[in-house]
Amino acid sequence: MIEQAPSSPPSAPTPDSVTLLGIETSCDETAAAVIRRTGEKTEILSDVILTQFDKHAPYGGIVPEIAARAHVELIDAAVERALGEAKLGLCDMDAIAATSGPGLIGGVLVGMMTGKALAMGADLPFLPINHLEGHALSPRISSACPFPYLLLLVSGGHCQFINVHGLGHYERLGSTIDDAAGEAFDKTAKLLGLGFPGGPVLEQLAKTGRADALAFPRPLLQRAGLDMSFAGLKTAAARAIEAEPLSETRKADIAASFQAAVTDILVEKTRRALAGFTPDAGEKRLVVAGGVAANQTIRAALQALAERDGARLITPPLRHCTDNAVMIAQAGAEHYLAGARGDLAANARPRWPLDEASATVNPIYGRGKRGAKA
Ligand code: KG4
Ligand code: ZN
Repeated sequence: MIEQAPSSPPSAPTPDSVTLLGIETSCDETAAAVIRRTGEKTEILSDVILTQFDKHAPYGGIVPEIAARAHVELIDAAVERALGEAKLGLCDMDAIAATSGPGLIGGVLVGMMTGKALAMGADLPFLPINHLEGHALSPRISSACPFPYLLLLVSGGHCQFINVHGLGHYERLGSTIDDAAGEAFDKTAKLLGLGFPGGPVLEQLAKTGRADALAFPRPLLQRAGLDMSFAGLKTAAARAIEAEPLSETRKADIAASFQAAVTDILVEKTRRALAGFTPDAGEKRLVVAGGVAANQTIRAALQALAERDGARLITPPLRHCTDNAVMIAQAGAEHYLAGARGDLAANARPRWPLDEASATVNPIYGRGKRGAKA
């Protein structure tokens, strides 16, 4: 477990309210938002997300260079709109928070440098935020979700279980050892000719298919522990797609069977994670966040599991499951209210584990280019 604090020590008494601009550019959404957090309540004053789907769609996936250029083109408009919709100026902000990693480095740099420049110009603290911490705190934007809770973060770039002990205290319990679940959805959808991003379209198609039509593997379910794997499942789906001509029925069956395999993996690993998650008192909280948490079949299966195991399932609203700037502002606001006053010298980090201790100890969570992607 590691303490994360994008901070320098407070020089003045800590206020109980903060108004803050958040910026998110780590993948393919150019997002800016203004929030006000008072005590334990967050008020969303604006929530701008400018997507780049059309720019990446012809390539069937996100092209980092195109994303970086698009962020450069869109970031000023996103920030202006966020301030305009909040009916506030930079002078009304107490701080600026921006994603500083992990993610596609070109995009991260665009958002972080924009945040730093605005902070310098307006003489405000700059708070560098770990994107994963934004997802980890996202349930606290609009729900009462006190610490501690068990988090399943399942997105296009990440798939991991985290014990969220408190602000800045994150313990990674398990992780995918290869692809993230969202990435497997996207690649399978691409092979099925469904376009990009694939997760939501594949989910729609799966509604018309039979989930037991194909016996796809459920990798690592036989092995103890909370690590997951989706690469073999993705390859099995690719082989099935190549095996015979794709009728509409066959496509739907592959989609439904693939989704069922992902669901089974996530449910079984979450069951184990919940069994080992024993908060001292009060309710057991299970939070599912990240883009794949938007999937209704997966949500329903996790809801049923939570009910069986006496846990409360908390899922952020769909808009805050996928990448957004409110969650970055939320993380910034929580740190600010805890005394953080920023760090203009912070560097952008393409890989930045939320729990650096686990990343160091367990080679699965290696650092640098050779580490697991998710
Ligand atoms: O959290 P997110 O916006 O970005 C990352 O940080 O990765 O997640 C995007 C991922 C994509 O892989 C997308 O296909 C997947 O979430 N996703 C879904 C659904 N909606 C988004 N996967 C399955 N079913 C969905 N309904
Ligand atoms: Zn994300």
